Amino acid sequence: MIDKISDSKIRESEIRKRQHIENFFKSCSEAKNYFDDIILENNSMSELDFSDIDPSTIFLNKKSDYPVIINAITGGFEGALDINRNLALLAKKFNIPIAVGSQSLGLKGACVESYKIVRETLGDGTVISNVSANTALEKVVCAIEMINADAVQLHLNAAQEMCMKEGDRNFKGVVKNIERIAKSVSVPVIVKEVGFGISGKLAKRLSEIGISYIDIGGKGGTNFIEIEDLRNDEMDFSDLYDWGIPTPFSLVQCVKASPGLNIVSSGGIKKAEDVVKSLCLGSKMATISGVILKELLLNGYGQSEKFMYELLYKTKILMLLTGSRTVDDLKNVDVFIKGDLKDLMDAKFR
Ligand SMILES: Cc1cc2nc3c(=O)[nH]c(=O)nc-3n(C[C@H](O)[C@H](O)[C@H](O)COP(=O)(O)O)c2cc1C
Repeated sequence: MIDKISDSKIRESEIRKRQHIENFFKSCSEAKNYFDDIILENNSMSELDFSDIDPSTIFLNKKSDYPVIINAITGGFEGALDINRNLALLAKKFNIPIAVGSQSLGLKGACVESYKIVRETLGDGTVISNVSANTALEKVVCAIEMINADAVQLHLNAAQEMCMKEGDRNFKGVVKNIERIAKSVSVPVIVKEVGFGISGKLAKRLSEIGISYIDIGGKGGTNFIEIEDLRNDEMDFSDLYDWGIPTPFSLVQCVKASPGLNIVSSGGIKKAEDVVKSLCLGSKMATISGVILKELLLNGYGQSEKFMYELLYKTKILMLLTGSRTVDDLKNVDVFIKGDLKDLMDAKFR
């Protein structure tokens, strides 16, 4: 189903997608990294052989060689084709899942190849669709079919939309829409934030309406209030740059509120330690977006492959150093929480 929409509207959306990448590079507000407030216990007598460390996991019914996902970034304009081909090559090389960027433009017929290239490159690897959580069911089905996706991410991005001059203002009906989609589509649904965090309360609500996967998309990395602010010449949103639930806090809240959920940790994950800490706190996978986009566009494919290799290799090192032969073993590592993260965990007013 291709939307009937004017060429000029498509052009505007393509320009917006390009500006998101340009403004991502211009954005410079550095949120505090709450992962620094987590300390994992070193185990100097793990009795493990490094060659036995197994970082593989089953995610969305397929084997992933590492518990890391390349998360949704882009699609729908010409420049996205190369970016997505390269990101997909990385996902294929390390046999990890990848999500495409929002398919709203693809559903309007714009540069569909920039999404399809991900499936074409990956073969039967894990590819995840991405649409807004308020997308009509029929279009969600088309997005899934477009890339023969293994799952679909429904993104929640109210904070981003509100700072966009042309953004959505009506968020009514989204819960019902998510519920309807989850009941009707043939693949798992992942409800995903884009950098402002999912609360424990929301995780519980999502679980109650039949959702089994969430991607918490917490604060600490890519900041879409700032990215949109840089495109907005009408209002200044710089005083909102600190908005959002920090990733590790969101993660702890969601794990506690809904232990049965498959939780994906994301938002500000930049290094192996952040990945391993996420898994120790109870996430199933951890994702990277901004950090890999930077490596790829600033330093080229070769450097991004080296970055990924080292991130995954160090993930294995930290598994050994915490006495964890498998990803599941990480759940038994002793975790200490200090500083601002601890304060936050004790700070509930109501
Ligand atoms: C340039 C750029 C574009 C993005 N576009 C999308 C998108 O289309 N859909 C989506 O759900 N998330 C999108 N994201 C958000 C990421 O998937 C992720 O949730 C967020 O960037 C936090 O992770 P990070 O701190 O590792 O970048 C985008 C991120 C970046 C950097």
